[in-house]
Formats: sequence, structure tokens, C-alpha cells
Amino acid sequence: MVQSALINSNPSVPLLQLALDYFSLPPAIAMAVKVAPYVDVIELGTPLCKAAGMEAVRAIREVCPDKLILADLKTPDVGDLEAKMAFDAGADMVTVIGGAALATVELAVKTAKEEGKEMLMELTGVRDILARAEEWKQIGVERMVYHRGWDEQTFDRQWQDEDKVVVRKLIDMGFKITVTGGITVDLLPFFQDLPVSIIIAGRAIHQADDPAASAHEFRSTIHRLWGSSQAVFSGTNGSGAKGNAFLVDAAPKAIRWGVSEMGLLLTIDGRECPGCDSPDRFCEGTITTVHCPNGVNVDNLVQGITQIFGQSRAFGRASNDAFYLDPAQLSDPSPAKTIDLLLATGNALGQLGYRVDVNAGVGVANQILGSS
Ligand code: 5RP
Repeated sequence: MVQSALINSNPSVPLLQLALDYFSLPPAIAMAVKVAPYVDVIELGTPLCKAAGMEAVRAIREVCPDKLILADLKTPDVGDLEAKMAFDAGADMVTVIGGAALATVELAVKTAKEEGKEMLMELTGVRDILARAEEWKQIGVERMVYHRGWDEQTFDRQWQDEDKVVVRKLIDMGFKITVTGGITVDLLPFFQDLPVSIIIAGRAIHQADDPAASAHEFRSTIHRLWGSSQAVFSGTNGSGAKGNAFLVDAAPKAIRWGVSEMGLLLTIDGRECPGCDSPDRFCEGTITTVHCPNGVNVDNLVQGITQIFGQSRAFGRASNDAFYLDPAQLSDPSPAKTIDLLLATGNALGQLGYRVDVNAGVGVANQILGSS
């Protein structure tokens, strides 16, 4: 059996999922390209799946090769074939609607497990969630989407403490829970005491004036709220990982300073930034986005880093002319791995004919990591 990509993700800080609820493909692709560097999962919303079908899944997979992709099929019947269709097109996850027959759920779960992918129960409209959850658990369901539907929002349904009670019970039963439905940055503290695994934001990101900035704000707020209340990874390990402060602070800082010292340009103009140690610093998140030097093709660079460092979600293409480094996405985060990531970046650039001062970059990163 293949292993699902989600199993490898850090369980303590929720992933951020962008919902692309569009009625045609072109604007969805444009939005995915713009926002992908700042989110963990890209969702093809139900309207997009209906409007553009599996072509849409294939297209989003092509422009976001390194992201987890969810096709929000909300399947009511034919659970195995619909799931298979989406997985074949490049999706990592699909949803089945809570009202579906148990047979449909069972077939979708079986297909997902065979393919090393994930099936999530969509709870929109389900009234007896906890009773149904017992049945779903018996047949192998592991993940659910707890949802305040759009139409319910039209009728003024608010997030309430009762919702949290149900989500907490589902988590206590062993389910991994995604929450969604009109979630804004201001609403994130409401969920902070719940160890949810994924938070979805749709309109709050793609209808914002600056969707990338909005996604960045979501992600850094999630890291601040969940990262400060729970360890991102526990204790120290043989390679010297030191816990949460390392992952959300020191490692990203080492990367930022390291690439700058190598002579590369960050995409954020930091001239007015008061510096990494100030509470007013510009970047709260863990991602550093870097301009690809002139004459270097970003895809070749990412390929070069992959050859040296191996496959990882800790780096990737951010846009046509920028790449990102995100040590929080390392599967085994440590100071040594953070330095390896910098080295791989510098050396991959060197192999493409663009010399950077790798020693200077690694030197400053080591100083930061040594004192963290
Ligand atoms: C609607 C959905 C949406 O994708 C989900 O509600 C997230 O979108 P938003 O954050 O805009 O509410 O599944 O059925």
C-alpha cells in the first residue's frame, strides 16, 4: 500500500487549505499560481469540479506540482470510481458527502487506501454527526470536514461553542478534523484550543485585495496561535532539533539571513523592516521567497536542489521567477537539515552557472542556529 502524503505532514500545526470555489478554470489557475507558495493544500471547490471536471484537477496539479490537492467532489454515490478518477488526475484527497450510503463511503475509503491517498467525510447537512461517526469509524474513515455551509451562512448560522464540543468529541474519537466555512483570520483564535489538522479558507483569501498577503497572514497567524501553544515537534533529537522556537523562528531566520548573505534577493523589500528580533518585523511566517537570479530558470533550480537535497516540501517554485525555502516543512527538521537546505540551494545555483557566496550564507546561518 502507498503512503499518503498527509501522513508525513507535521500534525501539531494545522495545514492551511485554499478553497478555489470558481465556476470556470482560468481564474482558478491564476489564483492557485499566485497563492500556492503560502498554503499547504489547494482545494478544487465543488463548483469548480462540476464546471471543469478532472481537467481542472490535472491543470492545478500541473501548476502546483508540490502541493497537496483536494478535489471537493462531495460524492453522493459511486464512491470508488469518483475517487479513482480524481486520484488518477492528480488529487491527493477527495470528499464524500455525509449523507452517502455506507457502501459508498466504504468503497471510497478502500480506493483511497489502495492508492495511498485520503478520503474525507464532508459533514455539511449531517445532523447526527457523532452517531454516524461511530459507523464511519468501523469502516476505516479517518478524516472529516466539519463545515458551516455557504447556504447556512446566508441564513446567518454562526460558529458556536457547540460546534467546538462536537469537533472535540470527534478528535477524541481519533478522527483528524478539517474545519471550514467562512473562516477569516479574526476567527482563528476561536479554534485555537482545538488540535484540528487542516483549516480551509476560500473567499477570505481569493476575494481579498491581495490574496497572497491574505494567505500569508492566515498561515503566520496559524503558526503563531498553534505553534505557541503546542510543540511543533517534541524535545531534542540527535541532530540537535530544539523545538518550536527553532522551527518558527531560528530556522526561517537562518534561511533568510543565509540567502541574503549569499547575495540573493528576497522578494519582500525589507528596507523598512525593523529586523528579525523585533515584534514589528515584516515576516512572521516560516517561508522565505527568493528572486531567481537573472538567467536561472526556476524549474531547473528546483530540480537541481531536489537532486542534491532530495524530494521535500521545504522548497519549491513560488512563481515564474522566484523560489521558496520553508524549513518548517522539513520532514525531520534540525539545524543540520536547515544548513543542508541552504547548501543545496547555493550548490544548485553554482551548477547552473550562477556563483553565490555559499560559505558566507552558511556561516551566518550557523551563527543563528548555534545561538537558538
Ligand atoms: C462550500 C465549500 C467551500 O469551499 C468552503 O466553505 C470554504 O470556503 P469559504 O472559506 O469561502 O467559506 O466547500 O461548500
